[in-house]
Amino acid sequence: MKKITIALDGFSSTGKSTLAKQIAKQLGYVYVDTGAMYRAIALYAMQNNWVNDKQLLKQDLIAALPNVQLKFVYNPTLGFAEMYLNGENVEKQIRSLEVSNQVSKIAAISEVRAKLVEQQQNMGKDKGIVMDGRDIGTVVFPDADLKLFMTADAATRAKRRYEELVAKGDDVAYDEVLKNVQERDLIDSTRTDSPLIKAEDAIAIDNSNLSKDEQYEQVMQLVQSLLN
Ligand code: DC
Repeated sequence: MKKITIALDGFSSTGKSTLAKQIAKQLGYVYVDTGAMYRAIALYAMQNNWVNDKQLLKQDLIAALPNVQLKFVYNPTLGFAEMYLNGENVEKQIRSLEVSNQVSKIAAISEVRAKLVEQQQNMGKDKGIVMDGRDIGTVVFPDADLKLFMTADAATRAKRRYEELVAKGDDVAYDEVLKNVQERDLIDSTRTDSPLIKAEDAIAIDNSNLSKDEQYEQVMQLVQSLLN
């Protein structure tokens, strides 16, 4: 059976990972959440006190990169892979607002990107993969068979993210989440190395007014047309 590579890019909190997981499950493909990798490196920098509001001790982080081991381990109970940083399960920690507030700065560092892109390309070398992120269709897999670029207005995305965090029991304010979403949009799309942009051949999906089911149906039609 033919296997394809699916690249899913877009702004934060556009529901990329939910959609990517659904597609991967349906096709029996590997799903890779590349944001988790950048988040784990941000957590590592935070654990080492290399990050604060004013200054990022970039050279220390770059020097330590060879010692950072990232691994996805599939959790059959949850039905998806969790992120391990140097052997420790950090899945919960990397989803916190503290990490979200630091991660775009870390993701702008070229040495960090080079390390992670290489790992991501290895994971996808046999195809049969759905990968989500910001630069999958532009940098990681420029020859991906299907490229999707997801958007939704910032307020809709912040509301979704806020509800997710509250459901997990996090004590956050909506305004704080909206600010984080807007700041990340700005840093991610204006950085020099691999900015968040739509690949020319990507299909744009604005899901502000689409239900998850409608979106899934639309995308699966595209996928099926490539598999037939
Ligand atoms: O998808 P996410 O929100 O978990 O991603 C966290 C951050 O990592 C996001 O602000 C931008 C960065 N990122 C990136 O630069 N490139 C990727 N391929 C994935 C994420």
